[in-house]
Amino acid sequence: MTAPSPERGSQIGPSETLDPQNWDDVRAQGHRMLDDMIDTIASIRERPVWRPIPDEVRARFCTELPRGPGDLGEIYREYSDFIAPYATGNVHPGFMGWVHGGGNVVGALAEMLAGGLNANLGGRDHVPIEVERQITEWMRAMLGFPPGASGIFVTGTSIANLMAVWVARTAALGQTSRQHGLSGEGALLTAYTSTAAHGCISKAMDLAGFGSDALRSMPVDRSHRVDVAAMRAQIERDREIGLRPFLVVGSAGTVDIGAIDDLEALSALCREEKLWFHVDGAYGALGVLSPALAPRLAGLQDADSVALDFHKWGQVPYDAGFLLVRDSQRHLDAFAAPAVYLRRETRGLAAGSPWPCDLGPDLSRGFRALKTWFTLKAYGTEKLGAMIERTCALARYLEAKVSAEPRLELLAPAQLNIVCFRYRAGESDQINGAIVADIQEAGIAAPSTTTLDGKLAIRAAIVNHRTDVVDLDALVNAVLEFGARRTSDG
Ligand SMILES: Cc1ncc(COP(=O)(O)O)c(C=O)c1O
Repeated sequence: MTAPSPERGSQIGPSETLDPQNWDDVRAQGHRMLDDMIDTIASIRERPVWRPIPDEVRARFCTELPRGPGDLGEIYREYSDFIAPYATGNVHPGFMGWVHGGGNVVGALAEMLAGGLNANLGGRDHVPIEVERQITEWMRAMLGFPPGASGIFVTGTSIANLMAVWVARTAALGQTSRQHGLSGEGALLTAYTSTAAHGCISKAMDLAGFGSDALRSMPVDRSHRVDVAAMRAQIERDREIGLRPFLVVGSAGTVDIGAIDDLEALSALCREEKLWFHVDGAYGALGVLSPALAPRLAGLQDADSVALDFHKWGQVPYDAGFLLVRDSQRHLDAFAAPAVYLRRETRGLAAGSPWPCDLGPDLSRGFRALKTWFTLKAYGTEKLGAMIERTCALARYLEAKVSAEPRLELLAPAQLNIVCFRYRAGESDQINGAIVADIQEAGIAAPSTTTLDGKLAIRAAIVNHRTDVVDLDALVNAVLEFGARRTSDG
């Protein structure tokens, strides 16, 4: 076989690098972008929380794929005029919908640095992975897990919960189930959670191949905490009919009203019944940073795994979900897979095994740990804990304001940082849904809705570190004003 002759330089053509011809131009553009970004965050209160997208703006994003180069200044103008003003709005202190963190400027700067570094955290031996391991160690200590726990960054808690189901499945069925799938005994596995659990738990059971029917959603008490006795009885009944209970998912901060299950009781149940105990701590788990809230999370330290988001109460810019697993061997059992092209060495760049790709489904992964590391180091856990505690104090302020206003009805006690209430009116669901949309479209605030005991509620989740008393006053005033306009007394 004859070796191919080396290509002559002339046949390759000129450089096609994507680096700029003039670095000073791109530097000047970069400085402008950075200044604008910081100015926008610093003056966020001057803008509406959210604004509806005009048709002509939406239409700008239905164009042909660009074939030729564009001018960076022009592209940035398009971003400034047509993308930034129409974002979700969760940087704004008036944003109280769903469970959205406000981000922070240090984390945003770190995200920019991560872009420049362009590190791939799937594996290999480099310090960005040590940063992720450092955060795992910090989380292990923060949540009271033993040495030997493993952790990994993921997009968000939906994926972290799914990964926990996979880990629990492999722990229950053994590693061979990864070859054979869920046939036989796998079809008998059943999991337990509460009716107040986030929908991603049921979706995780579906995606993991069990089907959502294999999840038993147990009733909750008036405070939305799972009925542990009912769960115990259901487990017994299921064993009697030949099913195989394997997993309990507790909630540390339910999405509707922020209820925290009795994690100690769930942990004891799991120990007795030899079940995997996973906690969905999407936003609530970071409550351990607040000395006032930490006792309410007792039992979290005994979980087999915990899913949480730094992008919620942790204020790290999206996305920064995390899964912590008590026993790293169980974690590896579920995900590690040999591949010749990912061969590990004891020296050189291919050292440093196990790699993060052994702890989750992703191979290529970005540097989510960096913005989290910057955020934790810049503010410290005491400040973050105080901020978290203050969002709960603000929720109590809003709760008191709602309770004192005869035109409003409180629909659930504020257990953490979420307040659910409604404007009293006939056709209440329809009127309150309309009020929420009115307030969002006016740019005053961005609450969301949920349904509690069959009633549509205006839901204010105070997650953003910028939210203050004035924002809650503005929300209540707007509810009363739009409520009056939409009813006969208006
Ligand atoms: C309790 C709970 N679990 C899970 C999730 C899903 O988290 P993510 O949106 O990061 O996937 C949320 C989101 O609000 C949540 O509140």
